[in-house]
Amino acid sequence: MTSMADDNRVKIFDTTLRDGEQAPGCSMTLREKLRVAQALADLRVDIIEAGFPAASPGDFEAVQAIAGTVRGPVICGLARCNPADIERAWHALRDAERKRIHVFVATSAIHREHKLQMAKDEILKSAVEGVKLARSYCDDVEFSPEDASRTELEYLAEVVAAVIEAGARTINIPDTVGYTVPGEFHEVFRYLKQHVPGIDDVVLSVHCHDDLGMAVANSLAAVQAGARQVECTINGIGERAGNCSLEEVVMALKTREAYFGLHTGIDSRRLYPTSRLVSSITGMHVPRNKAVVGENAFAHEAGIHQHGMLRHHATYEIMRPEDVGISRSNLVLGKHSGRHAFRERVEQLGFRLDDAELKRCFDEFKKLADRKKEMFDADIEAILMNAETGQAGFWRMEELHITAGTGTIAAAAVKLISEEHDEVQEAAVGDGPVAAAFRALERATGIELVLKNFELRSVTLGNDAQGEVTVTVEYNGQSFRGQGLSTDIVEAGARAYLEVINRIQRRLRSTAAEPAAAAASA
Ligand code: KIV
Ligand code: ZN
Repeated sequence: MTSMADDNRVKIFDTTLRDGEQAPGCSMTLREKLRVAQALADLRVDIIEAGFPAASPGDFEAVQAIAGTVRGPVICGLARCNPADIERAWHALRDAERKRIHVFVATSAIHREHKLQMAKDEILKSAVEGVKLARSYCDDVEFSPEDASRTELEYLAEVVAAVIEAGARTINIPDTVGYTVPGEFHEVFRYLKQHVPGIDDVVLSVHCHDDLGMAVANSLAAVQAGARQVECTINGIGERAGNCSLEEVVMALKTREAYFGLHTGIDSRRLYPTSRLVSSITGMHVPRNKAVVGENAFAHEAGIHQHGMLRHHATYEIMRPEDVGISRSNLVLGKHSGRHAFRERVEQLGFRLDDAELKRCFDEFKKLADRKKEMFDADIEAILMNAETGQAGFWRMEELHITAGTGTIAAAAVKLISEEHDEVQEAAVGDGPVAAAFRALERATGIELVLKNFELRSVTLGNDAQGEVTVTVEYNGQSFRGQGLSTDIVEAGARAYLEVINRIQRRLRSTAAEPAAAAASA
């Protein structure tokens, strides 16, 4: 029997590691995916879509590793409606405590004609067979009619009814291209509720993309029409303009609980740390004015607002920063802080370090605390991120020397140490110190990049603030992004460039290993 509380609970299905990771420049290593998956479990999401196992050996390995280690949420793998994909998803998921296979096939006329070249009845048959096969492996099967929002309603209802009959337990309705609007999407859900036999026995789910900036609004409209699962990503990362943002949809339901009469199981105090973790791992910036987790989300500048806030915080604040895990003072530790306090803060920021990593980061923290008057969360994150880059990367920067000035040719010399402990030194000149450093790094690593974008921002306030550089580059037609932080902006730029080079190096290695991995799993 379902209780009232269950009826009002909206499940959070996180697809940061699948749809999010598909976004250009957002690819993650296995180690990074495991860290994100653990952070999602700590955030208490209900389902983690860990990847698309048939897409590549790397995806298979990541889903398998997450299924084998992360406990709490259901671990889900995506598959097209064909036996090879479904079997691959099942093999990857085997070790999960709780597992789900998510099968999909496109249903809209434009996809039927131009992508699949299949007739309506062929697609319906493939959907039913896919669901039946998935159910032969696993009780928990989700089905998605891709591009549902542009599918004829009658046909959509027919497909949904058939897959429910075939055994699907969750029916996910995607707005694949971010085309719908809230009123229209509400109607789609209402129509399905009215016309599909058995719909009340399954969980209705919603999956929105943000092409017109309405992914969160459309998801909430679906929830109002009866959806009880929302598919979303941390920071809204995903294909093109991204997916529905997890932190926004969760905080909308929490802040307006009296209006929606619904709740989630999310520990909202983990939202900010998880957002920072995903942003530092992917190198994908969170805009300052981003709702809920942006730096300015709780900043009050106008005098009249500040005055109101001093009288009562609720005058201009609908959520408390601490509810999403942002500490109000943000001024955390100083040079006299001990290792214990440092470890505690690191954990609050969503990072887990072993003893050796903690020691290395604590030494860096002490060095930086000697140079900076005040240490903010962002400074600590900077240390953690640099440590992460250093560990995960093939190359580590040992030395960087710059000569620059008016009337002088800018020159840079770098010393890098490779994972195999080889030492490489190179020097180069450039139009400025940053260009010289980039060229020296390219020479040392043998990887040439096309720089597409260079952004610099100050992480905290004051003359001694750290600079954060984000670079976007192109390599072999693919886009990569990296971040670097330092109190010296040329060094920050060089760190960002080296992070990108390390990402590419990892990609090259995993591509080289792919044929072997495929053969081993055949
Ligand atoms: O956007 C989409 O349609 C998807 C499906 C695979 C659910 O990501
Ligand atoms: Zn999607």
